Amino acid sequence: MIYKEGDFVRTYLLEIPDYGSGTKALLDNLKRIAILDSNVKAERLLDPKYLTAMRLQFRERSSKILEKELPHLDEESKNTLIAILLHEMLGLGKLDFLLADDNLEEIVVNNHKDPIWIYHKEFGWLITNIFMDSEEQIQNYANIIARRGGKQITVLSPLLDTRLVTGDRANATLFPISGKGNTITIRRFRRDPWTITDFVKNHTVGADVLALIWMCMQYELNIIISGGTASGKTSFLNICLPFIQPNQRVITIEDTRELLLPDFLHWVPMTTREPNAEGKGGVSMLDLLVNSLRQRPDRIIVGETRSQKDAEVMFEAMHTGHSVYTTFHANTAE
Ligand SMILES: Nc1ncnc2c1ncn2[C@@H]1O[C@H](COP(=O)(O)OP(=O)(O)OP(=O)(O)O)[C@@H](O)[C@H]1O
Ligand SMILES: [Mg+2]
Repeated sequence: MIYKEGDFVRTYLLEIPDYGSGTKALLDNLKRIAILDSNVKAERLLDPKYLTAMRLQFRERSSKILEKELPHLDEESKNTLIAILLHEMLGLGKLDFLLADDNLEEIVVNNHKDPIWIYHKEFGWLITNIFMDSEEQIQNYANIIARRGGKQITVLSPLLDTRLVTGDRANATLFPISGKGNTITIRRFRRDPWTITDFVKNHTVGADVLALIWMCMQYELNIIISGGTASGKTSFLNICLPFIQPNQRVITIEDTRELLLPDFLHWVPMTTREPNAEGKGGVSMLDLLVNSLRQRPDRIIVGETRSQKDAEVMFEAMHTGHSVYTTFHANTAE
């Protein structure tokens, strides 16, 4: 991390090994060979198991080819070259390097002219020294992300909400809906989830407040968690969920899976789906809410209430005697 005199924000410097044009030509060649003789099925790359198998296969193949072409290459350089190759062929290129850093909460691409921004756990928003090559590349990555999540992003449906294979939440928008270019926003979820004790220790919430919430949940009151964007609503909802008694049937409804309940709970997770290109097959929050009422739930958890319609059905569900927990985007409780 560096701070340059006169800059408004600090820079997160990522050192990606620089390789000369000779190496680049070799890498391109290697890509071609590896693709040719492994006959990758593009449509199967959506399957995480297949993807892992392909990674292994590529790693072995390219390692053999490199040993033959560059017998004097040391182990470290060889591994770096293979990593670059894998990121470019099966992953999200340079984004993968950022996705590997546990200190980052958010990774955002605004267009190909501006650097990628990140939100660091400790230092907040930082710019990076990484750029996307072109608008097409951003769209291409958005497409890969969409397809792996079983969704699509096109001129006709230029907004995407989904999850990466790793579980991180991803959003993408296309120009001209996003005026400066195509965007990608990735919320890296914590590999080790927040717990109640974490929140007490870092002074997010006191034990007395938690005790009150526990009582409210025990006696089946409804709970709405509201706050600004990225203020920690979903995390807070999540840490409260273990308060639900294990003999209660829980149904969660979300656009993208973020909520994680402990194994001992009786839980049915449900997620919405975008309609396909012909406008068919869509499953909305509203559909799921209405449907969940017929699944005899004791508790309904709606990841995020966004539209007026969602809210209406949610209140309807509360009226019918179910306890509902949800998050709202709002600045105050009023
Ligand atoms: N109490 C906390 N202390 C420190 N970091 C937190 C805390 N709660 C949440 N975070 C971190 O803040 C980020 C945003 O959290 P979260 O996704 O829960 O927010 P949100 O309000 O649901 O956001 P959105 O409005 O985008 O849905 C996450 O990276 C999370 O790990
Ligand atoms: Mg949220």
